[in-house]
Amino acid sequence: MNDKSKQKMSGYQSYLIQDNLKYFKPHKTSVTVTFAEELRKTLQEPKKSISPKFFYDENGSKLFDEICSLPEYYPYNSETEILQTLEKKLLPYLSNEFHLVELGSGSSVKTRLLINILFKSQTHLQYFPIDISEILDQSAKNLCMDYENLTVTGVVDTFENGLDFIEHYDDKPNLITFLGSSFGNFNENEGMKFLQKINNLMKSDDLFLIGLDLKKDQQVLHNAYNDSQNITAKFNLNVLKRINDELGADFDLENFEHHAIYDEEKGRVEMYLRSLSDQSITIPKSDLSVTLSKDELIHTENSHKFSISQIDSLLNECNFEKLEIWFDSKNYYSLVLAKKL
Ligand SMILES: C[S@@+](CC[C@H](N)C(=O)[O-])C[C@H]1O[C@@H](n2cnc3c(N)ncnc32)[C@H](O)[C@@H]1O
Repeated sequence: MNDKSKQKMSGYQSYLIQDNLKYFKPHKTSVTVTFAEELRKTLQEPKKSISPKFFYDENGSKLFDEICSLPEYYPYNSETEILQTLEKKLLPYLSNEFHLVELGSGSSVKTRLLINILFKSQTHLQYFPIDISEILDQSAKNLCMDYENLTVTGVVDTFENGLDFIEHYDDKPNLITFLGSSFGNFNENEGMKFLQKINNLMKSDDLFLIGLDLKKDQQVLHNAYNDSQNITAKFNLNVLKRINDELGADFDLENFEHHAIYDEEKGRVEMYLRSLSDQSITIPKSDLSVTLSKDELIHTENSHKFSISQIDSLLNECNFEKLEIWFDSKNYYSLVLAKKL
């Protein structure tokens, strides 16, 4: 690690778990302040919203894993299918020893498919998971138990902060992965800025592997975000419980319902929490009182779906050269391999 990386990590607590596993976490107080401040802003806007990054407390991460096991949730199944058949297609690009950097690593289950491929071309691997959720701790331990020659350095923080850390780590090439169609959560401008940030910090021999969900039949989309077991609804509502637990708020979860619709014009699934009555809520740590009328919506997530031409122009505008694009057998989902132009 060079001096810039060390400096960047000075606001973090480091946890050395074992020789091949350490991770960095920002001090707890700064995380709580950010959460409280962001809500204070977004819940006072005319169209109220809560950022999707706040879904992922311990319970939220567990619920997301449950979503991934639902038959309706095709993004997980489609991306896994592509990764399972990737070895021969990816190996020709892996002539050097790569580090694996993963944005939003979550439970790192699909990561194993990539780790297996990387171990076909190198004997040791450094893995840098970056995730806002504390789930990173357990996921990293599980990986270290199963892979002898793996060294894990995790960053429990936002994508942006994690990337700043990686940027100055060393001179080895990185395979930077962004799976799970998480990129689709950004709005257009933020997404472009984020891709440009990744592009700017990439070295000429780095690779970028990104999972992008495709436009498709609206019924398939509807079912994926309104599953029959209501797990997505629980996941959505859990963010209110998190606000209660961490910021002392008094949301009554019975007074809200999950609402997810596809907006064809914007090409995205939009997720909301609908207020079932006129009500007012206090969030002491945000120093905020929120009034909601019956049927008012709190926006919690966008999930953009892309056409191939949109993917091409996005990569172009952000200075990437598309090396490959792979699809699942239903053509629901794409995995793009790119490098810096
Ligand atoms: C849709 S899940 C994908 C998980 C996993 N990569 C997969 O493909 O199954 C998104 C992951 O990104 C993390 N995440 C969401 N927003 C984030 C942010 N702004 N910064 C860092 N991590 C974030 C979540 O904690 C979660 O683990």
